[in-house]
Amino acid sequence: MYVCLCNAISDKVIRHAVRQYQPRSLNQLRQLMPIGSDCGKCIRQARLIMEEEQAML
Ligand code: FES
Repeated sequence: MYVCLCNAISDKVIRHAVRQYQPRSLNQLRQLMPIGSDCGKCIRQARLIMEEEQAML
């Protein structure tokens, strides 16, 4: 499913990036993809997905 509609970024893409690059913060995740760079409505959900994926590492 799309998390960030403005930039067409799915939860799958976020999870993959977290596993592969292991960002330590949302800012680091945002260096990997332009999530939240437009309307910003996706930030909260993106953080939750990132934390969920980090917990599984
Ligand atoms: Fe992500 Fe708008 S939905 S910036």
